[in-house]
This record gives sequence, C-alpha cells and structure tokens, in this order.
Amino acid sequence: MFPLPQARFDLDELEPAMSRDTLAFHFTRHHIDHYERTVALAHGAGLAHLPLEEIVKKASYVPRLRTLYRHAAEAWNHDCFWRSMCAGGGGEASGAVAGHIAARFGGYPRFVRRFQGAAATVFGNGWLWLTWKDDRLRIVATAAGDTPIVRGHVALLALDLWEHAYYLDHQNRRGAYIRAFLDELVDWGAANRALEDCLAGARHAS
Ligand SMILES: [Fe+2]
Repeated sequence: MFPLPQARFDLDELEPAMSRDTLAFHFTRHHIDHYERTVALAHGAGLAHLPLEEIVKKASYVPRLRTLYRHAAEAWNHDCFWRSMCAGGGGEASGAVAGHIAARFGGYPRFVRRFQGAAATVFGNGWLWLTWKDDRLRIVATAAGDTPIVRGHVALLALDLWEHAYYLDHQNRRGAYIRAFLDELVDWGAANRALEDCLAGARHAS
C-alpha cells in the first residue's frame, strides 16, 4: 500500500505567497480526498499493493478503471505539486535546469512568458508542468485530472491550476497565482534533483 501523503510544510510556512488557509484546505480536503478514493478503488481493482505511480500508469489505459485513474493521477499530481515548492523559493532557475531553460527557451524571462502563456490555454481546471521528454524540457498543460507521466514525460515541476489552489488567496486572478509560484515558491533544487534522477536512470538503463 502506498503511504498516506504527508504535508511537506508547516501550514504557515509558505506565507505570504500561499496562505495557511489555502494550504490547509488544499492538503487536508482535496489531496487527502483523492488519496482515500484512490485507496478504496485500488483495493477494488486488486492494485492496492502497487506504488501510486504504477497505479496511475496501469489505470490510464484500462477504460473500466477511468475513475481510479482520475483520482490516482490527482493524488500523484498533488504529491508532485508539493515537491515543486519550498519556503523562500522562486526566482530564476538554477543548476542544470537553468542551462536547459536557456538552451530551450532562450533564457528565464522567455521561459516565464511561455509558462504563463501555456497556463492561459487551460480552460477551467487543470495542471501546468515543466517536464523532460526525448532529451529536452517541455512546458505541458493538462486538463482536469490528467497527468503527463502516462505519456512518457518525467515531471520536474507541477503547478495546480484548479481553482481551489488559488481562489482563497487570489480569487479569480490566476495570473497572480502563477506569478507568486514563479517568484516566491518554485523549488528549482527539486526540479534539478528530478532531472538528475531521470538522467541517472537513463544512463543505468543504457
Ligand atoms: Fe489541487
């Protein structure tokens, strides 16, 4: 059985960029709800012994497991979202990811504009990602509870674009929420570790 998700922060640790109320509601209501539904549905499908990521991938291509896929993907997406932020984060990228951003997007300011533009393509609820696939960075938007890891992407950063992620702090100003994520929250160290793990895994497999 995959473990109950643990809050990665004290509830006020990301203030003022993300309020205590937002973090509390988001983690203890939305994320835990997806986790509990995933556990129940995975038991019913005989998949509860698998790690969460394997459940997501297996359920993604089985039509009768569509509801399990949606909840499992949301549980996994939220895990990735919490990993993507830290207190005192934000600002220009660092490390190897910064080099790839320069090569792929022409620098951090241009990356920010592409990231914000991609968010604008998400109509309603969804997610925005920085991923690694086929040896390059990609900005990927997914709708509702979908996740790019079922299409061969390695997630380096996840940004929750569901309204519950920002409405208490920013009301309908999703752009302000994305700006706060980039300027004050994003954990480039986590993105670099995810990329290192991905590249090390690829070297090991070859
Ligand atoms: Fe969420």
